[in-house]
Amino acid sequence: MLMTDTIENIDKILDVNKNGFSAEIAIVLGSGLSGLVSELDSAETIPYSAIPGLDLKSVKGHEGNFVLGSFRGINVLFLQGRPHWYQGASAKTFHIFLKSIQAFGCKEIIMTNAVGAIDSNIPVGSIVSITDHINLQFKNPLIDSDVDDYFLGMENAYDMDLRKKIRGLAERNKINLYDGVYLGTLGPCFETPAEIRAFRQLGAQVVGMSTIPEVITARYYGMRVAVLSLVSNLAAGCGDEELSHELTLSRVNMASGNMISLLRHYIYLALHTYNSEIEIQ
Ligand code: HPA
Repeated sequence: MLMTDTIENIDKILDVNKNGFSAEIAIVLGSGLSGLVSELDSAETIPYSAIPGLDLKSVKGHEGNFVLGSFRGINVLFLQGRPHWYQGASAKTFHIFLKSIQAFGCKEIIMTNAVGAIDSNIPVGSIVSITDHINLQFKNPLIDSDVDDYFLGMENAYDMDLRKKIRGLAERNKINLYDGVYLGTLGPCFETPAEIRAFRQLGAQVVGMSTIPEVITARYYGMRVAVLSLVSNLAAGCGDEELSHELTLSRVNMASGNMISLLRHYIYLALHTYNSEIEIQ
């Protein structure tokens, strides 16, 4: 069951989407990855603020826009920016965000984000394909949102088939791809070294402040999800740098080449058969 508000918001997005744009794939562009939208043909930008309840307070590096367009012949919906609990997003915000994505026809979502590496084998600049998560945000978007099926199974939250496809593409294109468990904190401050030591004991390889609520909500609505994390720094206490949002952004900008290349290949794959030789950069 959907909240009445959410239904009104879907009507609103259908109004906003005057040309009836529809896409199979949605890609959430994390901090510093927004540049990919410049590769879309006939792109149209719709600010999240056009949808009641989706007016996100902006954080540097997180614009808030739906960008619709065609990428080498296939329609894609890019999401520039995402809601965060630490910015005051509520459970409802995540439902409106995901229902809006679904209203554009998308059945699968690739979410990207920036993370700190807890595992010392994962260097800065690497891409990590998230296999599972540990929710230490102590919040859940299925609470306070009028959902009628609270007890959502999370075994295949990070879709095995999508992950296999992504791994195949990475191998074929010689992009180093790690697997790892994402531990989500509420943020907005970075972790203490003691927290990171504890998170390592819990079995996490990377840490971030986002994504978990969108994954849960997307799964609630039956969408398939994969998450690719870009390692912007070693987690607190693992290196000698002082952590900051500026450091995250500058690192993501430096290291985004492989991520952008992997996403291009992923979209391209949607057009072509899995085994064909793909020669794009
Ligand atoms: N911790 C939490 N979130 C992050 C980090 C980090 O070290 N790096 C990028 N996002």
